[in-house]
Amino acid sequence: MACSSALFSHISFHTNPINSPKPNKPNRKIVTVAAIPPLSTAADVSTITAQFDGATIAVIGGSSLAALAAVLSVADPEKRRKLQAEEVGGGDKEVVREYFNGNGFQRWKKIYGDTDEVNKVQLDIRIGHAKTVENTMKMLTDEGSLQGVTVCDAGCGTGSLSIPLSKEGAFVFASDISAAMVAEAEKQAREELSTGKDELSPAPVMPKFVVKDLESLDGKYDTVVCLDVLIHYPQSKADAMIAHLASLAENRLILSFAPKTFYYDLLKRVGELFPGPSKATRAYLHAEADVERALQKVGWRIRKRGLITTQFYFAKLIEAVPS
Ligand SMILES: C[S@@+](CC[C@H](N)C(=O)[O-])C[C@H]1O[C@@H](n2cnc3c(N)ncnc32)[C@H](O)[C@@H]1O
Repeated sequence: MACSSALFSHISFHTNPINSPKPNKPNRKIVTVAAIPPLSTAADVSTITAQFDGATIAVIGGSSLAALAAVLSVADPEKRRKLQAEEVGGGDKEVVREYFNGNGFQRWKKIYGDTDEVNKVQLDIRIGHAKTVENTMKMLTDEGSLQGVTVCDAGCGTGSLSIPLSKEGAFVFASDISAAMVAEAEKQAREELSTGKDELSPAPVMPKFVVKDLESLDGKYDTVVCLDVLIHYPQSKADAMIAHLASLAENRLILSFAPKTFYYDLLKRVGELFPGPSKATRAYLHAEADVERALQKVGWRIRKRGLITTQFYFAKLIEAVPS
């Protein structure tokens, strides 16, 4: 493993992620492993080397500087992103939409699900992400019951947060840019929310699922949550997204993002040199100070903050309120 676990030990939020079950699926089987951040910047040596094909290794083995430069230029994340954007005729958002309706959907459905068909990196992401969901639920329920509280889950993915929110009695509006993700979330919600906690309790109210990018969301919600979505956008776009999400929230905005620190940035750059076949979109880290500034500009302040890390997954989780 390339990452020293000591580098990930400054945890202010998490307990032991390896043994934590996924909150909305209590009987989920968890296997011990290692992981990566939301849109992976793999630093696991075996993962990285496995992605080099024989030809590449032969070129480097011949120590030709020109050939090495060529290899690195093909792996250049900025070039790769431009190529992807050209392929789908747009910018970051179109690349993201295309990805989460195709390969990305298959990849993340597995990671967020409970299939055993995940590699050790994916399993670790599953564990880290489950901690993010669990800590978000804790942040929300610490302030009182969620019964009847309106919550917007922006970029809901396969419903990992929307489903436990509904179980707690919240009225959930869940949206995602990907139609495939929304269909999967709806399917899982129907399976998990069809009955109440016991024979006497009524079944929870189903979330309202909609295919929509978060920029087109409107209305007002007590709470807006947006987990592991900002990673797909540079800070210039994230500023506008944060401002828009804050404008939809009356009382609380909860965000998670991959924090930009010297170490994580380095890790990400190394990972980007070795893009795996399904790690098709660019991942952006965000400095906590930049996110805080974006919130302050629209009159919000951070009230709670936490960091969730496993060996490869890392997410900063913040709760903001109007100043
Ligand atoms: C890494 S997944 C996280 C899913 C979910 N929030 C969770 O934590 O389980 C990122 C999700 O964000 C969605 N997404 C990305 N950009 C978006 C946008 N501009 N508007 C809405 N959803 C978006 C993707 O389709 C994907 O489902």
